[in-house]
Amino acid sequence: MADEVIYEARGVSKTFGSVTALDAADLKVHACEIIGLVGDNGAGKSTLVKILSGAHQPTSGTLLLDGQERRWDSPADALEAGIETLYQDSGLCPDLSISANVYLGREILRPGLLGKLGLLDHKQMAVKAREGLEQAGIGVAGGSRSVSKLSGGQRQAVAIGRAITWARKLIILDEPTNHLGARQSAEVLHVMKRAKEQGLGVIFISHTLPHVLEATDRIVVLRLGKVIADAPTSTFTPDSLLKVITGLAGT
Ligand SMILES: Nc1ncnc2c1ncn2[C@@H]1O[C@H](COP(=O)(O)OP(=O)(O)O)[C@@H](O)[C@H]1O
Ligand SMILES: [Mg+2]
Repeated sequence: MADEVIYEARGVSKTFGSVTALDAADLKVHACEIIGLVGDNGAGKSTLVKILSGAHQPTSGTLLLDGQERRWDSPADALEAGIETLYQDSGLCPDLSISANVYLGREILRPGLLGKLGLLDHKQMAVKAREGLEQAGIGVAGGSRSVSKLSGGQRQAVAIGRAITWARKLIILDEPTNHLGARQSAEVLHVMKRAKEQGLGVIFISHTLPHVLEATDRIVVLRLGKVIADAPTSTFTPDSLLKVITGLAGT
């Protein structure tokens, strides 16, 4: 269902010593929705992402997945629950093939002797990786090609394809279009829309406001750790969004 809340942060705060990085932040992510998470440097975006993805524990507040209160002791817990996070550094391994990268850390093993020893099932991984990338609408031909041969945009597409292959609930993309050209950025935005069409929730962090205005359904603005705006994207103009982010609204 399109209006179903899949993931929610309720009153989440995080302090580092005397610094309040996040101050009672609320965030609801619906299925089939792309949320733009924006704010100036130091606003608390990365801290919120790290809490949502299990890399940080909140100092206070709760996380609810499908309405159930959850606690992640590590990023592996959140991954297990269907939440994929693509950090700014995509973590691809350039020397491996595209399909090996999609399966990095989750390799399919062929059952070996007595089911104990396993060999990597490259064939099955290649087929499944291609399916995953195709499903994501990513046209990267030749899954056996080494990632080092790909352009920046194609690498980012593979990283997002990997996230989409595994995500069952939510994808969090931290600055996925940074350092990409216009056409490559457009590809990444397109892939995000495909993820949304497949029923996932997407959180898109970017400083490139035209991308945020173009690709998202709702925009959440953080300033000094607080959520200061949360409204449909259609209610913002480039000018009004910039004013909310910088705190110059109403001037
Ligand atoms: N590990 C940390 N230790 C101390 N302070 C931190 C840490 N992580 C973030 N902060 C502080 O928390 C605030 C929010 O940072 P961050 O979440 O990285 O913001 P953003 O991603 O929006 O730029 C900043 O003042 C930052 O210096
Ligand atoms: Mg950050």
